[in-house]
Amino acid sequence: MSDVAVRLTVNGRVRDGRCPPRRLLVDFLREDLGLTGTHVGCEHGICGACTVLLDGEAARSCLMLAVQADGAEILTIEGLMKDGALHPLQEAFREHHALQCGFCTPGMLMTALDLLRVKPEPTEADVREGLSAVLCRCTGYHGIVKAVQAAAPRMRTGQRRPA
Ligand code: FES
Ligand code: FES
Repeated sequence: MSDVAVRLTVNGRVRDGRCPPRRLLVDFLREDLGLTGTHVGCEHGICGACTVLLDGEAARSCLMLAVQADGAEILTIEGLMKDGALHPLQEAFREHHALQCGFCTPGMLMTALDLLRVKPEPTEADVREGLSAVLCRCTGYHGIVKAVQAAAPRMRTGQRRPA
């Protein structure tokens, strides 16, 4: 089957490409656009490592075809830093030791961003439930939950809006 054109706005920049119709969005991001910050784990929608924001909402990029995302706005982990400064959520992850190997971290951060968009003042239970869609094999989640709770007020008070 011949390649098809795909146009996405990724991290604020229009990106054009051509790919087979069955190419996964995560493969398009990583291999065609070189944005390898989005990780691939299970490729079955279970682990959450591949989570990106698609038109502002968390989405598993291993469960979508690139052509299905044609015309969408995508935010990946590469789009979080601004002007050389970490996003407040990234800062909080660093402060609270919320990562070890880092494999889950991009998906965890993008999922947390979506959670804080929907629930700007989450309880600990909200955070635990919201992040339960992303698997971490290293941290035991404690530092991750603390980091998201620490980032929430900073984002509400305007250090940085949820992306
Ligand atoms: S790689 Fe997409 S959910 Fe695991
Ligand atoms: S930090 Fe290693 S899987 Fe989460």
